[in-house]
Amino acid sequence: MRVGVLTGGGDCPGLNAVIRAVVRKGVHTHDFEFVGYRDGWKGPLEGLTMPLGIEQCRGILPRGGTILGSSRTNPFKLDDGVEQIRANLEKDGVEALVAIGGEDTLGVATKLADLGVSVVGVPKTIDNDLSGTDFTFGFDTAVNIATEAIDRLHTTAESHHRVLVVEVMGRHAGWIALHSGIAGGASMVLIPEQPFDIEEVCAHVETRFKSQYAPIVVVSEGAVPREAEGGSDVTLLNSELDAFGHVRLGGIGDRLAGEIERRTGKEARAVVLGHIQRGGTPTAFDRWLATRFGLQAADAVADGEFGTMMALRGTDIVRLPLSEGTAELKLVSEREYAEAQVFFG
Ligand code: F6P
Repeated sequence: MRVGVLTGGGDCPGLNAVIRAVVRKGVHTHDFEFVGYRDGWKGPLEGLTMPLGIEQCRGILPRGGTILGSSRTNPFKLDDGVEQIRANLEKDGVEALVAIGGEDTLGVATKLADLGVSVVGVPKTIDNDLSGTDFTFGFDTAVNIATEAIDRLHTTAESHHRVLVVEVMGRHAGWIALHSGIAGGASMVLIPEQPFDIEEVCAHVETRFKSQYAPIVVVSEGAVPREAEGGSDVTLLNSELDAFGHVRLGGIGDRLAGEIERRTGKEARAVVLGHIQRGGTPTAFDRWLATRFGLQAADAVADGEFGTMMALRGTDIVRLPLSEGTAELKLVSEREYAEAQVFFG
């Protein structure tokens, strides 16, 4: 069987580990041949392919990014997008697709599977916001990068008696902020799920200055002040929407630092970690998870279990209907946030 592989959406550490595992298992165990589709759904849509075999996968396990390239192309934005994909798959002799992506890429896979395209999905995102799986790969790497940054910021904040505000990614989910904030011993963690009170943030900043420590406030890019509850005041880099209708978040760190400085009189600076969280080598955990997802995806294709998504449940990799895996966003609960709140101030 000829199998196409694509990676879509924002890149994330571990994508190459999945590709490698799908190809190794597919070639060795199932006698598959592979076609690499470039740049997410743009590949099958426009017929952009590259050779993909064991040779192309040598040495890629520890490499960040994706050898296939990625994009946020949405074929359902075009009237004949599905027909174009079908025509290109037929032209390339591809009978099945492995789509590696987050909510948007797997959302397209779900719709295509409903229309009879043979596709299996592998969940990825540094945001860890897919409800069907305990963890997505890429998340652990992003958390480790953010934690190291927080560790480093502690010492310089203390030397200069400054407040340092660290803005992390995560879109509408606060997982990266929560995990790195707890691991890095932040004075406060602000997440999109729980609108924050600026007075309370400033009170915690003042308390922290009473000790030898300087405050580190970790803020998720989608966090909003309480007076703007409902998300209307979410801070945007610009108001343009991508092909999946998403705005670009960012800027809350600077805004918050300015407000803290104005209200407390303490110098406050913002550090935006941005794409550093997505770049570079995956952690051992992400390599392990991505590899196991890849092995299972190759088996799912061999078993003809199309319309499924690989998921981590405990320590097992299971297959779920794609529609179930992407049905809702997994958000930080009040209970989980309360664990971090013990350390605020
Ligand atoms: O979904 C992953 C993610 O990194 C989000 O955390 C972030 O909001 C978004 O992608 C940024 O996307 P882009 O790189 O396209 O601006």
